[in-house]
Amino acid sequence: MDERWTIGVVEALRKLCRNGPECINYNLRSLETKSLVKCPDPNNTNNWIIEEKLETSEILSQVCLACYTTNGVDCEHPLFKGNVCRKCLGRLKSTMVVKGDDGLHYFCAVCGTLGLIVLCDNDNCGRAYCFQCISDLTANNTWDILLTTEEWLCFLCEDSSVIRIIYGRDDYSTRIHQLYTPERLQLVEPPSEPLPSETKLRVLSLFDGISTGFYSLQKLKIPIQAYYASEIDIAALNISKLNFGDQIIQMGDVISITDEIIKQISPIHLLIGGSPCNDLSLANPTRKGLFDGEGSGILFFEFYRIILLLKKYNKNGFYWMYENVSSMQLSCREAISLYLQCEPVLKDAVSFSPQHRPRLFWGNLPTLYVEVPFEKTHLQEFLMSGRMAIVPKLKTVTTKSNSLRQGKEAVHPVRNEQDIPDTIWITELEKVFGLPQHYTDAGNLSATQRQELLGKSWSIPVITHLFNFLHSFCTSSSYKITSSPNEAT
Ligand SMILES: C[S@@+](CC[C@H](N)C(=O)[O-])C[C@H]1O[C@@H](n2cnc3c(N)ncnc32)[C@H](O)[C@@H]1O
Ligand SMILES: [Zn+2]
Ligand SMILES: [Zn+2]
Ligand SMILES: [Zn+2]
Repeated sequence: MDERWTIGVVEALRKLCRNGPECINYNLRSLETKSLVKCPDPNNTNNWIIEEKLETSEILSQVCLACYTTNGVDCEHPLFKGNVCRKCLGRLKSTMVVKGDDGLHYFCAVCGTLGLIVLCDNDNCGRAYCFQCISDLTANNTWDILLTTEEWLCFLCEDSSVIRIIYGRDDYSTRIHQLYTPERLQLVEPPSEPLPSETKLRVLSLFDGISTGFYSLQKLKIPIQAYYASEIDIAALNISKLNFGDQIIQMGDVISITDEIIKQISPIHLLIGGSPCNDLSLANPTRKGLFDGEGSGILFFEFYRIILLLKKYNKNGFYWMYENVSSMQLSCREAISLYLQCEPVLKDAVSFSPQHRPRLFWGNLPTLYVEVPFEKTHLQEFLMSGRMAIVPKLKTVTTKSNSLRQGKEAVHPVRNEQDIPDTIWITELEKVFGLPQHYTDAGNLSATQRQELLGKSWSIPVITHLFNFLHSFCTSSSYKITSSPNEAT
């Protein structure tokens, strides 16, 4: 065993034996989330580590890295070498997909609880490590050292020289995907056969917004026979009309889609949609949640209703995908997963574009469980000439204009040709979302209205990554399969 490990283990676990695991829960990023995740039980003293085990290499396999129990520690920690108990694995699985609009995690990557945290500065990681884990599992003073490190890359992103017992697994990203890959898809089976030749894709898009679903399919050159959309926002409908004319069949309010209509439009091969998130997001303190009939969260059940209706008329199965924000209340997420009978996968547009946009996806698309290749992009590449980006990545663009401000000081992300701080232009934002410039320039919409619509919409490279498999489903397609979403034209 590596000597540095032994030093770390002994130091950390001796301390544990003397003091017992303390459940600290201060400096919470959000009071609301506090009660949703339980810390390890501090009274469970029977299971504490016994000193004679300390200097054996068995420690990491016998002791739960997250709560230090020695009982039933039979699961591998998905990120770090060592084991965890079943309860902690469940908590890790549930908290690992929660990211804020800034792309940063809330919960500790090692133990999955909230606490005083230090964050990884790698844009594609942003993982959190709690004070307790850093204190217990690394050498003394590490916490202080990390706090003063200007750009800290965590134990997964860099082979740092910190003395510790936590070492990242080389294959951690594959393990994360395996963790969410369901053993069996329960709600709807995907089609067992590719589409017969000469048959084109039939799509139903609920909460279609500015038709990013259609744009992504078109960009991938997937042959479409029919694209039915449900949307009620006039501005969004105008944008859709401007870009796609009558290629999209608008069906109006989702509530008006009846059993009879689903029967008429079937077969449907692909159902997509992301219902409104403002009543689910933790960012909204007055959110109404999932079940309040007065709020928009309840529209999730329209998606659920339609998926059940489609099941009735599409006995050969179909593909489906439901999307919503990553920072939703854990209880809402769990309820959605219960209905949709699978757990969500986190995909973040930051992997392909210069914007943090963590989103959760439920569904049966095979690409949901495929690792996302990280493409290093910088905001600078997306600006008009003469303008300078002062951040490499934007935080999530929402419907609020202040979401365009960056960092604690809420600065503008760009300096203009006169070297004066400036907001990002809508045409630049469209590019950041993977859309053509002026895509949202319909019906005399103001810049604010265009930002609001973009703030609700999908990031194209994420969606093309998810839809790329449709090439092999639509065998009649003679188009080239693109390996990277940004390569698609
Ligand atoms: C989160 S946005 C989805 C945006 C879309 N995914 C995109 O990329 O543009 C939710 C959308 O649901 C629409 N919506 C709200 N109530 C609706 C209803 N009753 N029927 C159909 N669409 C509705 C909103 O207007 C909004 O555009
Ligand atoms: Zn545990
Ligand atoms: Zn921790
Ligand atoms: Zn990291």
